[in-house]
Amino acid sequence: MIATVARTGLAPSPLWGEGRGEGQLPERGAVPASNEPQQQQPLLQLSKINSFYGPVQAHFDLDIEVRRGQIVSLLGGNASGKSTTMKIVLGLLKPRSGEVLFNGESTLGLSTPQIVRRGIGSVPEARRLFPAMTVRENLLMGAYARNDRKAVAEDLERMLELFPRVAERIEFQAGTLSGGEQQMVAMARALMGRPQLICMDEPTMGLSPLYVDKVLELIARINAQGVSVFMVEQNASLALQIAHHGYVLQTGRIVLSGPARELLADARIRDAYLGGDGAARTAS
Ligand SMILES: Nc1ncnc2c1ncn2[C@@H]1O[C@H](COP(=O)(O)OP(=O)(O)O)[C@@H](O)[C@H]1O
Ligand SMILES: [Mg+2]
Repeated sequence: MIATVARTGLAPSPLWGEGRGEGQLPERGAVPASNEPQQQQPLLQLSKINSFYGPVQAHFDLDIEVRRGQIVSLLGGNASGKSTTMKIVLGLLKPRSGEVLFNGESTLGLSTPQIVRRGIGSVPEARRLFPAMTVRENLLMGAYARNDRKAVAEDLERMLELFPRVAERIEFQAGTLSGGEQQMVAMARALMGRPQLICMDEPTMGLSPLYVDKVLELIARINAQGVSVFMVEQNASLALQIAHHGYVLQTGRIVLSGPARELLADARIRDAYLGGDGAARTAS
């Protein structure tokens, strides 16, 4: 039902970066491993992360990297530590040990607004819009760290082109929009900060099948325009079809990782997440 997604990409026109992306939309689930840039420094690198909530350990020596231009999917069942990983990237939780590098520089001492200013945008779980504010006001909140008013106004116009549904709702209170529309506003709001990397926590959760497709298509388009993506997704099959690389988290440990194409073909992934025999055991 989402077979058209790969063919709807825009011509390569890096709107938010300087040609950071691959330029071309990947064939879904068919990204050659050799296309992954191997030599350059990762855009985001988490190494040997151990994190805790009080006495309870949430991550065990977590290693994850996102290379420039990639979509990386973090998969895993309920309570495996996916959202906690996002919190660490965004500076909302400080790991007890380990390192987080963005563009080669540690973000561990930084506040969330400082991290956002370095170029990481966030689409949080359950969207978290300001429900009483209009869609326009929500979008402008995404540019709060910027002083370049003219460019902000231009970016707002670009967002309305990229998200026509959002344009139709621009003067509505955000809280009156459907879940799918709110997800698009949340994505557009994150892009208003001109991020190099956008972090998304379960972007398709609770959406109707139509909007699931639409949101995944938009993620692929955003990536094709130069924004790297780190996404948590419950729907492993769909996430791996737009991703370049995937990681599987199980109770705080990475148990499997690799090119998305290989993970899609992996019997362990199929069993756990794609409706194989073991689906009832570990899927969430
Ligand atoms: N604020 C919190 N306080 C205490 N424990 C938490 C908190 N948030 C998450 N946890 C625990 O950390 C683990 C990982 O949670 P989380 O990262 O939210 O998982 P996921 O997003 O994969 O469902 C779970 O065992 C969860 O109960
Ligand atoms: Mg979560």
